[in-house]
Amino acid sequence: MSNHLPRPKTEDRRPKTQNPMKKITIAIDGFSSTGKSTVAKHLAKHLGYTYVDSGAMYRAVTWYAMKHHFIDKDHFDIDALVSHLDDIHISFVFNKDVGFAEVYLNDENIENQIRTLEVSSFVSRVAEISEVRSQLVKQQQKLGKGKGVVMDGRDIGSVVFPDAELKLFLTASPENRAQRRYDELIKKGDIVLYDDVLKNVQERDYIDSHREDSPLVKAEDAIEIDNSDMTKDEQFQIILELVNKTLK
Ligand code: DC
Repeated sequence: MSNHLPRPKTEDRRPKTQNPMKKITIAIDGFSSTGKSTVAKHLAKHLGYTYVDSGAMYRAVTWYAMKHHFIDKDHFDIDALVSHLDDIHISFVFNKDVGFAEVYLNDENIENQIRTLEVSSFVSRVAEISEVRSQLVKQQQKLGKGKGVVMDGRDIGSVVFPDAELKLFLTASPENRAQRRYDELIKKGDIVLYDDVLKNVQERDYIDSHREDSPLVKAEDAIEIDNSDMTKDEQFQIILELVNKTLK
């Protein structure tokens, strides 16, 4: 018989998740640099859900197009990219050191390469192509088939998972978003100018919301959250309450 005393119970003050057995799909859409991926990662970790960064998939295709010289600032060979789509295999592999799944292109970890301003400057043009979209949407739907998924992007609530139980739409002012993206890039050691980052944010807003195929729109049943003046923690608490309400 063990003579160890039972451990004293400490009170867990973290907000409880309602009905943890029920698994739902959470779609988080919104403009670029609204902090979608930060909150989505945090939420997935908290709920024990899978996180899928759909923007990383569009970035991975862009990276492939750049590597193969299908796109640069003067030309874009759309036919060449489309004819190579079947050679592009994107996967997510959980890295326990960083606490989230990193993106791989044909077995090469490209998590850092896809976050540069250069990739950002081409990605909206790649994301406009219907063949690219339909290929990636199919893969995204497969990744979220079993529910228990948090996916962020532009068309998750409107196209990828129109039946998602919870749809969020994040917004913030362009200046606010540019500052966040600028701080991130500088922290990584990239040499960029705030004005260039702001210009890129505005250009991507325009292209993302005006493209013909699945433009960035707030799904009718999505809940809009303007996080311009919110801390990450405040936003997380609001979202957690919405999750709990949905799980009830
Ligand atoms: O979220 P992000 O900034 O990493 O996304 C990169 C680009 O990919 C963005 O400019 C628009 C596009 N995108 C999209 O069209 N649809 C998605 N579901 C996700 C991203």
